[in-house]
Amino acid sequence: MTDPLIALRPWQAPELTSWRRLPMNAVDRRSGALDLDGDWRFQLLPTPDAPLAEAWSSSHVPGVWTVQGTGDLPQYLNIRMPFPDVPPHSPAANPTGVYEREIEVPAEWAGRRIVLQVGAAESVLLVHVDGRPVGLSKDSHLAAEFDLTDLVRPGGRSVLRLTVVKWSDASHIEDQDHWWHGGITRSVLLYATDPLHLADVGVRARFDGRLRVDCQVRDTGGALPEGWYVSGDLDGRPLAQDREFDRLNAEDERVSDFLGEVRIETVVPDVRTWNAETPELYTLTVRLHRADGTVADTFRHRVGFRDVEIVGRDLLVNGERVYIRGVNRHDFHPLTGRTVTSEDMRADLLLLKRFGFNAIRTAHYPNDPGLYDLADELGFYVVDEADIESHDHAHEIADDPRYLGAFVDRVSRMVLRDKNHPSVIIWSLGNESDYGANHDAAAGWVRRHDPTRPVQYEGAAKRGWADPDVASDIACPMYAPLEDCLAHALSGKQTKPLIQCEYSHAMGNSNGTLADHWAAIESTPGLQGGFIWEFWDHGILQHVSDGTPVGRAGAGRYANGVTAPGYRWAYGGDFGEEHHDGVFIADGVVFPDRTPKPVMFEHREIAAPVRIEYVCHEGIELGNHQHFRGLDWLSATWELSLAEGLTLTAPAELPTLGPGSTATVPMPFELPDDGGEAWLTLRVTTAEDLPWAVRGSEVCAPQVRLRAAPTPTAPVVGGGAVRVDDDGLLVHPLLAAAPVLSLWRAPTDNDELGGMAGRWRAWGLDALVRTPVSVGRDGERVTVVAEYVGATGVVRHRQVFTPVAGGLRVDESAELPEEWDDVARVGSVFETVAGLDLLEWFGQGPWESYPDRAGGAPVGHHALPVDALFTPYLRPQESGGRHGVRRFTLSAADATGLAVELDAPRQVSVTRFRAEDLTAVTHHDELVPRAGCVVQLDAAHRGLGTASCGPDTFASYRVPTGVHHWSWTLRAL
Ligand code: GAL
Ligand code: MG
Repeated sequence: MTDPLIALRPWQAPELTSWRRLPMNAVDRRSGALDLDGDWRFQLLPTPDAPLAEAWSSSHVPGVWTVQGTGDLPQYLNIRMPFPDVPPHSPAANPTGVYEREIEVPAEWAGRRIVLQVGAAESVLLVHVDGRPVGLSKDSHLAAEFDLTDLVRPGGRSVLRLTVVKWSDASHIEDQDHWWHGGITRSVLLYATDPLHLADVGVRARFDGRLRVDCQVRDTGGALPEGWYVSGDLDGRPLAQDREFDRLNAEDERVSDFLGEVRIETVVPDVRTWNAETPELYTLTVRLHRADGTVADTFRHRVGFRDVEIVGRDLLVNGERVYIRGVNRHDFHPLTGRTVTSEDMRADLLLLKRFGFNAIRTAHYPNDPGLYDLADELGFYVVDEADIESHDHAHEIADDPRYLGAFVDRVSRMVLRDKNHPSVIIWSLGNESDYGANHDAAAGWVRRHDPTRPVQYEGAAKRGWADPDVASDIACPMYAPLEDCLAHALSGKQTKPLIQCEYSHAMGNSNGTLADHWAAIESTPGLQGGFIWEFWDHGILQHVSDGTPVGRAGAGRYANGVTAPGYRWAYGGDFGEEHHDGVFIADGVVFPDRTPKPVMFEHREIAAPVRIEYVCHEGIELGNHQHFRGLDWLSATWELSLAEGLTLTAPAELPTLGPGSTATVPMPFELPDDGGEAWLTLRVTTAEDLPWAVRGSEVCAPQVRLRAAPTPTAPVVGGGAVRVDDDGLLVHPLLAAAPVLSLWRAPTDNDELGGMAGRWRAWGLDALVRTPVSVGRDGERVTVVAEYVGATGVVRHRQVFTPVAGGLRVDESAELPEEWDDVARVGSVFETVAGLDLLEWFGQGPWESYPDRAGGAPVGHHALPVDALFTPYLRPQESGGRHGVRRFTLSAADATGLAVELDAPRQVSVTRFRAEDLTAVTHHDELVPRAGCVVQLDAAHRGLGTASCGPDTFASYRVPTGVHHWSWTLRAL
């Protein structure tokens, strides 16, 4: 006989969102439950209705089978669906995982209600016990619960089968930009309650201490016996008198198993309120008592007292207009694909906290439930997003009544699950699904059920940022140009908070102009922040030899963003996918192993809680840029960096400063009279161990220039000889390749996807042909003129080599054709002999910086091994630059080497790779470092922008045409 669950063909029925699934609720049943995680019997069928085979393999739960050697592999697509079938259809070839195991039901559970919870399965879950159908569920990122009481026997054994169908009608609304997988991605549990149990508890804890707890009970037996009551306590202090139930269903007219509800209301005096800076939590315990006082059920949850409201065009938390320093986060792991442990999530959040983030958008589905506990505890504002993205077929689906139920189901289930988390401040209806009646229906449900939080949806906001009639209380665009945001905020027409749901696309070497965005946000009423796209580079650890995913056994096969030999970070196409979107999956502020990319350091500085406002005769004005707390959790040290190579330090006393206030402190140093460049830095660290950082962790390093560099004096000519070869190329014992002109960089992802690299290639900038024109001698001075011929123009390049004490000076100029009005760089590139492995420089650092991503790198004296300068972006590209470099040395272990002095702060990079080495390969592990150093000195270097998805860099960060001049001296150490 055909199985009824299969016979329904639920994978082709959008109206069927579940069958016999229990209502979602906020009662955490993890403690005391039977953990069913582990290795299950497994087989992968080609279609949902294919017969089971004799042979079983095994699969780890939770986990996706696509990284577990089943033959079905991950596939990366951004927008396009992985199959051509239009909604609500799914393809005939439809991998279906059958998971089976025995369960032993504890004998003590006799008489109790027994519930199965499947944490998440994608995309259709069918449940059987001992061959009997139990129920089904869709909604891949939320749990499904089923009542097994009548199907299992306490003290006995049963066979539990979970069938997971990969493709369905629901796939069309789960078309998010990440890997497609199949499997059971969150834990599976079995738990027992009394037949009469707490069905749900809703908590509202307000900023003024008001607490309201709504408890609902259900009884599988259908009767609420006399005398049952509820009690509650907060951190052990009894809340109010015990309360009896308001009976909803009088016994004679019983209509359902929903029996009663009770509300506890109280006011907590002197309440410690919750916000992302000081996330104060109380433990609320609610007990359901039998008539004799014994406890039948318990609900425990950490609650935070806080308010969220929109007043005018401001989003207020506890009355404060907080900045949203957010990031978009997927549940991702480089070994498991999707499954994350609470240690994983804690590591994510600790890192975000250390780098100044205070907000998370759960892109693009409800994240693992553990994330919200951690966000409550560590302090993050969360935009909780429903699992709805119909990107490829957005227009058809938004108004398709067949999907109406699914929209309301997904949004309401998220709200029911997460409603008690203080961290959740905004509900999001989903992502990139156009805008239609289905959204309005879901929004209507939320507004009625939870009027305490705003609703946002980018697709609705797009219809008009100020439109009062669309289902978004926030103007939450993605990748809006900064000038559009400013224009809106200044237009007088803004009616809603403007918080970008995605901005500053972090693909490859990116996030240009982030600091400019924040300068605008912090100086423009109406702008309140946004969420960087995104946290992760979703590289899956892969064996290079056969292309298989390594899976859970791969721990330790990577460090500092780099994979061990024989492994690599796979991106789209690496699993042999016919259709894929390549490296667009690697667009995070951290590498797949969570190593922070350089932008993180800039972000940390942008978010600095304490800043130097200005310096004047009276001293230094410091400002507290937090919303809720003072500076007492911080300690600091002053640092004075002098061009002469000296760094002085002095203890700093941070003033007692309330949020938003400023105070002047005395200047800690007297400047030496040498007239040299001088920089003052306040190195701020944590004063005590915090949940997210040990004492002494760096928090920020605001800096101010005390004295500019003097005009350079002309060096004394003479004292050496300059040698050039017949082609006019410099011959120098420390150089393996002479300095030549470079207008090219290995294209960044932004350069490629933004179209710049294509233009540069068309101009021939990657293959300029140098032809010497003249070599002239004037005493000891040698002047070399060369032409660099591209496809559409010629650059005349002039180098004047002058011997100076201890070395030589190079004065260069390059004249670009008028049409080459936006090139990657204009500068010199040369290569050193092998063995010069340490770079020491005076300039911005120590981390990588570029003209439009330089905010977080203080000027000072820095030193790093050459191999540590390069950032291993997944697809090799321009990397390793340092901005504002005044001078540097490259030295060997015996301190021999070379020193370069630049005429002005310049963009410099020292790596083991030529631009062409980087351009020639597709993955970092293919790079073969050269023995010497490739040194780039740039007169001008183009900003990075974010054009892979969003605005390019500003005109002021582009390299103009015309004549460029730069000079430098080269000396032996
Ligand atoms: C947005 C989308 C994200 C991601 C991003 C580009 O349009 O919401 O899911 O695709 O662009 O990386
Ligand atoms: Mg999308």
